[in-house]
Amino acid sequence: MTSQLDSLSRHSLVVADTGDIEAIAKWKPQDATTNPSLLLSAAADPRFKHLVSRDIDRLFVNFGKEILKHVAGRVSTEVDARLSFDTNGSISKARNFISLYESAGVRRERILIKLASTWEGIRAAERLEREGIHCNMTLLFSFAQAVACADAGVTLISPFVGRIYDWHKQARKVDDIPIEEDPGVASVVRIYNYYKKHGYPTQVMGASFRKAGQILALAGCDLLTIAPDLLEKLSLFKAEVVRRLSPETAKTQPIQKISLDEKAFRWMHNEDAMASDKLAEGIRRFDADARKLEKLIGSLAAETAAAK
Ligand code: E4P
Repeated sequence: MTSQLDSLSRHSLVVADTGDIEAIAKWKPQDATTNPSLLLSAAADPRFKHLVSRDIDRLFVNFGKEILKHVAGRVSTEVDARLSFDTNGSISKARNFISLYESAGVRRERILIKLASTWEGIRAAERLEREGIHCNMTLLFSFAQAVACADAGVTLISPFVGRIYDWHKQARKVDDIPIEEDPGVASVVRIYNYYKKHGYPTQVMGASFRKAGQILALAGCDLLTIAPDLLEKLSLFKAEVVRRLSPETAKTQPIQKISLDEKAFRWMHNEDAMASDKLAEGIRRFDADARKLEKLIGSLAAETAAAK
């Protein structure tokens, strides 16, 4: 019998969510995603010391280039969280990443620039997409964020499952929430059905998983980005995976189309306490890890200088 991972791959494009190059080489996914936290742990790993650069943008691109040797598709590289409320700053950062990649011979089609799904991040993505710079909208927790991203014509969104689950577990003071009631899973299902019902081409990539059941409940989603420990679990368990999401089913549902200007977006997102908390916290966490990464780069550079 086939493994759950192989069976899942027939319904959704499986992506590796890691900066661990050896794990990517092992799992051979089509695409890979990174974020500042994942690259902090990869950069601290002696196996990848040769990819560490004094310049954090170059470090991100070094990891991206290395990852691209092992995937046929795209790698996601994330814009500094400090630019989450700065449209022009985000655009400049994205262009810099693309120029570093292109000067190393990597075509822009193979890169997804990850931006926080703030109003400013979404506006940056809208303009970048017009330049042929494809974007992956991250830290996506609310329906308002998903609607605005689709209207902006972004290539891909990463709605988070696990962090929504974490928030609700904490709010309800419980240790677990069953898959059938999981609000993170429900959020991705709602977004997927909305996109397919109204014919938006933006791809939906479920992200941030805490358990295999959350992934399996989203079989059929366009893409699913999965950390190596969960890829391992899915590969060890032999079972057919049932497809849960499909454009055909979405089309039969009575889902109203909405459109959001800036005021309506901000209001609707703010009405969602979980999404407001998690977006703000997510920006703080990615920023904190990027700062730790800068410190790490500094201490590695000092070690190298002392050894000379
Ligand atoms: C991927 O694109 C996301 O950055 C990642 O899945 C977040 O996962 P986490 O919630 O486990 O940090």
